[in-house]
Amino acid sequence: MKRSEKKLFGLSKLQKKDLIQNIRQKPQKPETEQAPAASKSNFKGINPEYYEINSLPGMKALQMQMAAAKQFGLENPYFIEHDGIAADRTVINGQQVINFSSYNYLGLSGHPRVSQAAKLAIDTYGTSVSASRAVSGERPLHRELEKRLARFYGTEDAVIFVSGHATNVTTIGYLFEHHDLILHDELAHNSIIQGATLSSAKRIGFPHNDIDALESLLIKHRSSFHRVIIIIEGLYSMDGDVPPINEFIRLKHQYKTFLMVDEAHSLGVLGETGHGIQECFPVDENDIDIHMGTLSKTLSACGGYVAARKSLVDNLKFNAPGFVYSVGMSPPLAAAALAALDILESEPERVERLRHISRFFFDLAHKKGLDTGKGEGYAIIPIIIGSSILCVKLSNILLRNGINVQPIIYPAVEERSARLRFFISSLHTEEQVHRTIEVLTRELKKLKHNPIYTLT
Ligand SMILES: Cc1ncc(COP(=O)(O)O)c(C=O)c1O
Repeated sequence: MKRSEKKLFGLSKLQKKDLIQNIRQKPQKPETEQAPAASKSNFKGINPEYYEINSLPGMKALQMQMAAAKQFGLENPYFIEHDGIAADRTVINGQQVINFSSYNYLGLSGHPRVSQAAKLAIDTYGTSVSASRAVSGERPLHRELEKRLARFYGTEDAVIFVSGHATNVTTIGYLFEHHDLILHDELAHNSIIQGATLSSAKRIGFPHNDIDALESLLIKHRSSFHRVIIIIEGLYSMDGDVPPINEFIRLKHQYKTFLMVDEAHSLGVLGETGHGIQECFPVDENDIDIHMGTLSKTLSACGGYVAARKSLVDNLKFNAPGFVYSVGMSPPLAAAALAALDILESEPERVERLRHISRFFFDLAHKKGLDTGKGEGYAIIPIIIGSSILCVKLSNILLRNGINVQPIIYPAVEERSARLRFFISSLHTEEQVHRTIEVLTRELKKLKHNPIYTLT
């Protein structure tokens, strides 16, 4: 069945006909009763790997990684508990540390006005809307936030989802189908890849930010597909670099494709007033078809959004499974995002402070000979270490020295580009940055001289 046949509530003419026929038919016996009785011996030969929990994909790799970590004396850097608000500082194991592991870019998670708005929403609406928005889960906060996001991006409308990851999965997964082509940057976030995989479209990753390579793919493939979409990010979450958006827009118009930009990390970070990539280059309202973003970073809540033409927003609200068949956003989260958006708009000096302190970190790191990879000095600064083991060890040592930063290791990135990823917040001070770079350079130097961790 073609997706375009789907109508309101997901029922096509064909489905409606089937439904009516089914209702007219006599109830059928359950499948188990109809199936021919199977002799027990039929199932003896089934490989235990296919029904044992411990044989499920990923288990062996995880066990091997844990054993290797133990052998190298590494402490698990994941699932570390924070006992308080994670901003420029946080509390871990009862110790206050400088924190670079949280994307609380403008320090709005923990801001009294944001917390107060969330508390008020709980008092008014409770903690859950207890239904999908389409069927009794709608609250005034939802539309208020959507209208504000649309105004922020200068689009006709917007729709919010309960998770940023699910926003990409369901939007891309629902909108594209067989005969369509999805061209995404090869460093695109997992949620984009998952969405592309879920759709039945063909998916091709093009080399990171490589306009020529993308154009070659378009020349080769454009006419063989119906719809083509190019998907990029506003600020790349692992590398901290920005795409040449004007070039992507040129290709979008020339080859008649859609363009989607994931602004998860660029909202509140890029542009004079934090309006994201569209504030860095002059962008026309017809240049970006889908502005996608998350509420979990600058906006200090949880969830995602699509800001776009009204027709697309309506289409998603009535048909995208991750919206229709999922609960409406929890009231305190919608209220927190709204309050954070208010502060972002009324206090652009926070964006300026973030820009300043990020650049300060970046320049100092360079001065001390650290490798910042593709980073450009915008809020996400990778320090390339080049070995997963060394990276985890360094992260362990930094934590003991009062600095919390997450290692990003293989397979999330290639082994040779294993890194410490520093998320900068507008609340960080120059003093904190000085101390961090000093400890980092000192400890990295020491480790590099330890034969166990020598780089290959
Ligand atoms: C680029 C990008 N898109 C989407 C997401 C998913 O967002 P969320 O964590 O809010 O679900 C992330 C998460 O970090 C991300 O980095």
